[in-house]
Amino acid sequence: MDRRKFLTFVGGAGALATMNANQKADALEFAMGQELEQAYPNRVEKSALCRAYGADDDWQTPGPLKIGQHHHMGHDARLPKISDKPTLLEFFDKRIGHSSHLLQSARLAKINDLPEKMVLACLLHDISVISYISGDHGYYGAQLVAPYVEEEVSWAIKYHQSLRFIPDENVGYPYPEVYIRYFGEDYKPESYIYKDGQYARNHKWYMSARQICINDVYSFDPNIKVNLEDFHDIIGRNWRDPKEGLGYDGSPCAHMWRSMIFPNNTL
Ligand SMILES: [Fe+2]
Ligand SMILES: [Fe+2]
Repeated sequence: MDRRKFLTFVGGAGALATMNANQKADALEFAMGQELEQAYPNRVEKSALCRAYGADDDWQTPGPLKIGQHHHMGHDARLPKISDKPTLLEFFDKRIGHSSHLLQSARLAKINDLPEKMVLACLLHDISVISYISGDHGYYGAQLVAPYVEEEVSWAIKYHQSLRFIPDENVGYPYPEVYIRYFGEDYKPESYIYKDGQYARNHKWYMSARQICINDVYSFDPNIKVNLEDFHDIIGRNWRDPKEGLGYDGSPCAHMWRSMIFPNNTL
């Protein structure tokens, strides 16, 4: 990363001088991650649902209806239109975006020789952060994918949420330094995180969830370009698109996919 850009990011040379080596490394990683995300012009900038809640000025809910105005329902012209029978790949193109974080996580899982289903788990692990909701994203993400993947994949996505806060140096997962920057030195997760993490630790699929954490943390490298096409074959073999299309198959999470299709429906 360009030194001048980095200095601007951290607030100038004075601010940089107050940082220790670890803090500088974290700041650089964070800044590079931000820069990397900006380098993908075709990605969807923010979660569609985030826009629906008016997080962007342009997307705020209008005031009281004037005569002749109606509340919005149906496809929103401001978003790419989703077809009647959407697939996961269509959602990647039109809602999730070709997220470098997900793609680099999946790439790392492949390099680390994980089974295909775990490469898919890494590719989808933060699907909720990006396209649905970020709080409790492991739980929401697991629900979104559960009907279409092996149970172990959705289980691992669910429990990476709690395990990422719980180090296990024996398997190569220290507490991420960058979390100190993100959440502060004193941050302690809620007790349900420890409870679920403990449960996961004693489960036969513990290492599957843990592998998501391991392949997650180191997944920001601006020098590596990963294409979603590199994973088409793995998606094809490990993800089952419903014939009715995501959102229309009557599954327990169909409404969640529909919320992404129509994020600005009034009701
Ligand atoms: Fe995550
Ligand atoms: Fe992640």
